[in-house]
Amino acid sequence: MKGVVVDNRLLNDKYGLMCIESPEFVKNANPGQFLMIKTQLHNYLYDPLLRRPLGICDVNLKRGTFSLLYMIVGKGTKLLSNIAKEAVISFSEPLGTPFNLTADKKIAVIGGGVGIAPMLFLTKTLYENNSVDVYYGGAEEKDILLTHVFEKYSNNMKISTNDGSVGKKGFVTDLVENIDSYDKVYACGPKPMLKAAFELVKDIDEIDFEVSLEERMACGVGACLGCIIYIIDEKTEKIKQVRCCAEGPVFDGKQIVWDTVCKEQL
Ligand SMILES: Cc1cc2nc3c(=O)[nH]c(=O)nc-3n(C[C@H](O)[C@H](O)[C@H](O)COP(=O)(O)OP(=O)(O)OC[C@H]3O[C@@H](n4cnc5c(N)ncnc54)[C@H](O)[C@@H]3O)c2cc1C
Ligand code: FES
Repeated sequence: MKGVVVDNRLLNDKYGLMCIESPEFVKNANPGQFLMIKTQLHNYLYDPLLRRPLGICDVNLKRGTFSLLYMIVGKGTKLLSNIAKEAVISFSEPLGTPFNLTADKKIAVIGGGVGIAPMLFLTKTLYENNSVDVYYGGAEEKDILLTHVFEKYSNNMKISTNDGSVGKKGFVTDLVENIDSYDKVYACGPKPMLKAAFELVKDIDEIDFEVSLEERMACGVGACLGCIIYIIDEKTEKIKQVRCCAEGPVFDGKQIVWDTVCKEQL
């Protein structure tokens, strides 16, 4: 697919926000899905060779536009940050399994760092039919973005930073009080944060828990097996391998084998 970049701005020296016009993409996009985007504008340029996965941060059905919030960490995202308005950019259709949506529930949305990106589209959608509290954490002030939009589409929003520069000092999961009052928790962010969110809900059967995992991906469409994670099969109760890009990136967080997902942090 191709779309026109209608805006691309740096929010600070770490993050950019790109808005792309593509009515066809927007009409098929669901919260939790991602795309594989070509970070070079020309077909004859092959460095970086692989497209990069980014979550769908927001959509505007009326305008036929969608937004991507990206953290500049390497070559691909640096190239993205340099793309000018009106450029034509190439990307996949919406990929992956979206979040399961609910109605008339009390929801906690927990996002850490750039893991907040797919949570905006999710929060906006959930807020139409649910009560939604947003818990947003970052390492420092620069990681706390788009708060005015989250405030508009939530009943409550609480912020934390590791250095205490905005909100409460500490981890985002420490902000969550009365976990038992929630019907469902959705989370996206660094793996230790997701594991900490799992610890909050693991013993409470009444709380559903969905997470979006940002494993490193090569193909993004289930072909290369480069994004395997381990989950417990609901029926057999045995551990099985699944592809994060195809079966995920959204999973039932209570089925994930967290010690394998967090292996690089162990
Ligand atoms: C489903 C999915 C959704 C994602 N959504 C977003 C999003 O909305 N916004 C966003 O900024 N990023 C998102 N990411 C992560 C993003 O894909 C990577 O940051 C990006 O591919 C890095 O490309 P690069 O060329 O700039 O960096 P590279 O040069 O490829 O790598 C630079 C550094 O980033 C690390 N890195 C690369 N990919 C990942 C990853 N998946 N997780 C953790 N570290 C990584 C590398 O290990 C390396 O240290 C998502 C990833 C997945 C799988
Ligand atoms: S990235 Fe290739 S199978 Fe998931």
